[in-house]
Amino acid sequence: MRVFVLGGTGSIGSAVVRQLVARRHEVLGLARSDASAAKLGEFGATAIASNIAFPEPWIRELAGIDAVIQAAYDFSTDMAAIERRLLDALLPALARQANKPRFIYTGGCWLFGATGDEVATEEMPFNPLSAFAWMVPHLQRVLAAPGIDDIVIHPAMVYAPRGGVFHPFAREACERDAVRVVDSEAVRWPLVHGEDLADLYALALERAPAGSSYIGSAIEGFPVGHIARAFAKRFDRFHQDPRIISTDVIAAELGEWARGYALDQRLSGAKAQRELGWKPKHLDPESEIATLA
Ligand SMILES: NC(=O)c1ccc[n+]([C@@H]2O[C@H](COP(=O)([O-])OP(=O)(O)OC[C@H]3O[C@@H](n4cnc5c(N)ncnc54)[C@H](OP(=O)(O)O)[C@@H]3O)[C@@H](O)[C@H]2O)c1
Repeated sequence: MRVFVLGGTGSIGSAVVRQLVARRHEVLGLARSDASAAKLGEFGATAIASNIAFPEPWIRELAGIDAVIQAAYDFSTDMAAIERRLLDALLPALARQANKPRFIYTGGCWLFGATGDEVATEEMPFNPLSAFAWMVPHLQRVLAAPGIDDIVIHPAMVYAPRGGVFHPFAREACERDAVRVVDSEAVRWPLVHGEDLADLYALALERAPAGSSYIGSAIEGFPVGHIARAFAKRFDRFHQDPRIISTDVIAAELGEWARGYALDQRLSGAKAQRELGWKPKHLDPESEIATLA
């Protein structure tokens, strides 16, 4: 398939681009800088220089495209307004194509709120973190859009051994006297390794029924204290006890969106496993941290 990826250099998008190229799809990616264009080239994708905030020029390049994947996000701007404008231009343009292209929209685990011991599935009503509440009408709009095959994927917290949501732990284990944890060590995060999530995007692209939503969670809920302690141990920190910080501190440092780090969640990826044959391989993050080079 000929697939256009928005955000193909990000945590999620870069794994998705590499996976699609490996599966012999033809991948094009939007690049807002020379560095992003170079990265896409290294992955084997063709870079189109432009910006999601100005969609009209590059949407013209989409004639004959089989699918578009939206995984672009700018945490420093008014992403709600940027994405609204993007959907205003993109959805009608895709619907005008004769081949009914696929559109995969990236939602997220923080749209389900704090679930506590309940395990959230795709059937659970949304209870979004307020910084992401605008995403719910956007994904509902995508799912209702005529003339496209629409799919929504809700990734769990995406990690790589040193990257994604593990990156701050790895950095603090090297640079600070203790690793910081927001709110409590007992907070559970649903987790998925970037490569496993990329498999799910590829399966959804190739075989998901139109109108489907999938939660991309490989580990339902993993205590964040275990992650922090595994990094402190791996990097021989004198203080292996994490330093607990409040949600106000992390929100002041990174933005309101960062309050999501305190959500205690359990999310199930069973639907994707059952319907798409998704088989996540990375199920032991502590071992991956322990064996980091
Ligand atoms: N990571 C997670 O754990 C996680 C979990 C659940 C849901 N999500 C959702 O998944 C989506 C992607 O998250 P992520 O973690 O992969 O983000 P990320 O690592 O910050 O990557 C964002 C991507 O968007 C691109 N981008 C940002 N602004 C752009 C613009 N104006 N024009 C063109 N490209 C632009 C970036 O390109 P540059 O290379 O130029 O910066 C980058 O490729 C978000 O909606 C997020 O809420 C993420």
